[in-house]
Amino acid sequence: MTQIAQRTHAYVQLKIDTKALERAKHSLDDGAVVEEKSPWREDIIRLLNDSLATELVCVLRYKRHHFTATGLASPAIANEFLVHANEEQSHADRIAARIVQLGGEPDFNPASLVDRSHADYDEQLDLHSMIRANLVAERVAIEVYTQMIALIGNKDHTTRRLIEQILEQEQEHADELSDWMHR
Ligand SMILES: [Fe+2]
Ligand SMILES: [Fe+2]
Repeated sequence: MTQIAQRTHAYVQLKIDTKALERAKHSLDDGAVVEEKSPWREDIIRLLNDSLATELVCVLRYKRHHFTATGLASPAIANEFLVHANEEQSHADRIAARIVQLGGEPDFNPASLVDRSHADYDEQLDLHSMIRANLVAERVAIEVYTQMIALIGNKDHTTRRLIEQILEQEQEHADELSDWMHR
């Protein structure tokens, strides 16, 4: 019975666009990705470079907090800051790799890093202020990535999936910091 039901709908097929496959076979000279021809490429590279700056500033802030919190004899939270620093570094690396895939140049220029970053650096010395500054930065990142996902929409699936994966981890960071805030 269910087989009959399935067959009556069989004429509505999900079909692969074979012309696109042919284009993929013959576009090796144009670089690795077809998306290079997207009219949104420049915009997406710019958004990604702003996020790269944000992630790098987050690495520096978490590292600063990791080492100063260690000095305050707070090993558990100091270790948490280091875990986050390493995860932000991996976000930065994946974003930089994607920029190159799109034919752009990742901007690692330290002179303009803070200006280009959405999130702030922070040098406060008490634990509660550190946790708070990091939570604010995570909330900023979550807001930016949520907006980026909406902006990118169907214009670049690979970039959107990358941002969705990063957003999921920023959400975890925010949840963890929020727990620390209320201890
Ligand atoms: Fe991140
Ligand atoms: Fe984060």
